[in-house]
Amino acid sequence: MAEVAFIGLGVMGFNMAGHLACEGHSVRVYNRTPGRISLWCDEFGGDAFATPREAAEGAEFVMVCVGNDADLRAVLLGEDGAFAGMAPGSILVDHTTASADVAREMATLAAERELGFLDAPVSGGQAGAEAGMLSVMVGGERVFYDRAVPVIDSYAKMIRHMGPAGSGQLTKMVNQICVGGLLQGLAEALHFAQCAGLNAQGAMEVISKGAAQSWQLEHRHQTMLEGNFDFGFAVDWMRKDLSIVLDEAARNGAQLPVTALVDQFYAEVQAMGGGRWDTSSLIARLKKPA
Ligand SMILES: NC(=O)c1ccc[n+]([C@@H]2O[C@H](COP(=O)([O-])OP(=O)(O)OC[C@H]3O[C@@H](n4cnc5c(N)ncnc54)[C@H](OP(=O)(O)O)[C@@H]3O)[C@@H](O)[C@H]2O)c1
Repeated sequence: MAEVAFIGLGVMGFNMAGHLACEGHSVRVYNRTPGRISLWCDEFGGDAFATPREAAEGAEFVMVCVGNDADLRAVLLGEDGAFAGMAPGSILVDHTTASADVAREMATLAAERELGFLDAPVSGGQAGAEAGMLSVMVGGERVFYDRAVPVIDSYAKMIRHMGPAGSGQLTKMVNQICVGGLLQGLAEALHFAQCAGLNAQGAMEVISKGAAQSWQLEHRHQTMLEGNFDFGFAVDWMRKDLSIVLDEAARNGAQLPVTALVDQFYAEVQAMGGGRWDTSSLIARLKKPA
């Protein structure tokens, strides 16, 4: 069992850190808003710290799950940042969905301090984090990956090394390209079924056993038909992810016309007040005929 620090007890991190504690690791936690720390310690009984640096001191592994590039820099760098507290040979595992650029930058800064760095974004959402069944895509040096796998395994059903620093984030971008297109397709399919006067629920049940089957279809068609979006993965987060994807595509030359369009549709959902709605809310733009 390892000495592990966890920084960022949000929707995802709270549950991931909980699985580490339940597996028997010794867990040291930090969260910017202190209320989340007491909530976590009441439930799991780990040790609370006032800065990322203090949480990281003495930890063999430091796991991070914050919002975006700027948040990652805020918790890793500077006098109170995690890097300042980490001992040579320890490993930073970043579960934030961030850019590949920031992953490469942090990996370089970590190497200068003789630390390991892995970019390890996750897929599987809140439900996956609660169940400890996340899919984890990892970039960074293999030697650090091999050491971190048994710890990451506490909350994963699938872990894969994808290549050098930044490769985990690039793989997460592939995931988000798939998800955006799938959800827009599903929204249009449900909308069409309703306009055609079909039993949309029945249509989904029968096609879910055929070639159109997907996780989104299985888990989201019902709430999409009900117009219930008050849960899940927020549109604001998805727009952050798609902006990272489109920036990367502008650099590597990939053509993503559908992804760019879906990003604009999400901007419309935000304008409707749906920034915190689940990403399946794309259907809310499509009005049923009267
Ligand atoms: N939710 C999902 O379904 C899901 C699925 C896959 C991947 N992700 C990714 O996982 C990451 C976390 O998502 P989440 O849903 O857990 O988000 P969340 O609930 O909003 O939590 C964000 C966490 O980051 C902390 N944080 C943000 N900015 C910070 C800063 N500048 N300094 C220190 N701490 C900061 C927050 O602290 P406070 O409590 O103080 O705000 C909170 O602990 C994101 O990159 C997201 O894209 C999310």
